[in-house]
Amino acid sequence: MNKKILVTGGTGYIGSHTVVELLNKNYDVVIADNLSNSYQSVVDAIEKITGVKPVFEKTELTDQEQTQKLFEKHSDLAGIIHFAALKAVGESVEKPLDYYHNNLSSLINILRGALKHNISNFVFSSSCTVYGQPDVLPVKETSPIQPALSPYGNTKQIGEEIITDFAAANHFKAILLRYFNPIGAHPSALIGELPLGAPNNLVPLITQTAIGKRPLLKVFGTDYNTPDGTCIRDYIHVVDLAKAHIIALERMLENRQKMNVEVFNLGTGNGFSVLEVINAFEKNTGIKLNYVNTSRRPGDIEKIWADTTYANTELGWKAEESLDEMVLSAWRWECHLKESF
Ligand code: UD1
Repeated sequence: MNKKILVTGGTGYIGSHTVVELLNKNYDVVIADNLSNSYQSVVDAIEKITGVKPVFEKTELTDQEQTQKLFEKHSDLAGIIHFAALKAVGESVEKPLDYYHNNLSSLINILRGALKHNISNFVFSSSCTVYGQPDVLPVKETSPIQPALSPYGNTKQIGEEIITDFAAANHFKAILLRYFNPIGAHPSALIGELPLGAPNNLVPLITQTAIGKRPLLKVFGTDYNTPDGTCIRDYIHVVDLAKAHIIALERMLENRQKMNVEVFNLGTGNGFSVLEVINAFEKNTGIKLNYVNTSRRPGDIEKIWADTTYANTELGWKAEESLDEMVLSAWRWECHLKESF
């Protein structure tokens, strides 16, 4: 019998790509999502790609009753991958209570459900934001956690702490995955990043500018202490990232963990500047992007990229896709959106 996995936020960007990888590996998938920043049509797109329709449960995970009902209906779960969260850094500064309430109460409700139904094996979406601006690069999992720069970042730090405390008290197994900057889309171009409203992240803003949805891209800051003056990030293809979740899950299912709670950086280990991403986009698509240099965006860190040694050796996972493929797949997805909406 196939093992059943709950994927919260499974119609979202990283969630949907992870559901595809799970279905490809013959897991049964239950998606729980409140569709606050995604569409139910993603479920059909997942079916088109995999030939399997995951179970979809529209659930408000901040609501304890709804969450408990979800767990009662699906009490035979082998594991949980928890993506559901608000993720816009700027918005979190304006609406901190929304972020603390949403991201933390849903986590607590899910952990309560897991406890009640004896479900262990929990994968948590964390973020490289927990490192702030590291003194030493590339950044390792053992690098110090810095005070969060935003309520969003703080929810990830507190989330990690909640899970760690919960695991210690209940012999619960968890893997915390600290993502660097996921970009790109599935090679089918049937799923990708589809924020409701204006995006905040670089690559959707690039593709939306290129396709004419917005007039121009602002490059936030050209006076950073980097070779070309723009910020450096470790961009990782969303499919590479999704695959790491299945590996992490199986590490727990097969009892190969070294500790009850483990932490892994998920990046490529390479840093690219904003201008390098723009150049890669222009080179691969042949499109000249309309962009202007503007002032720094408050709260942005200058540069960060991952030391991926621990994930490479312990998980046996390595990001494979190039920056060229990342930007091209993002572009194919934007073109698909134009044709289908
Ligand atoms: C941020 C968070 C990350 C979070 C992610 C989710 C931090 C340090 N990072 O990533 O934890 O998971 O959002 O949304 O808080 N840029 C421009 N012009 C634009 C947009 C972005 O120049 O219009 C630049 C930014 O200044 C940055 C880079 O592009 O240097 C990437 O920005 P973005 O895609 O928003 O991701 P992060 O801020 O790195």
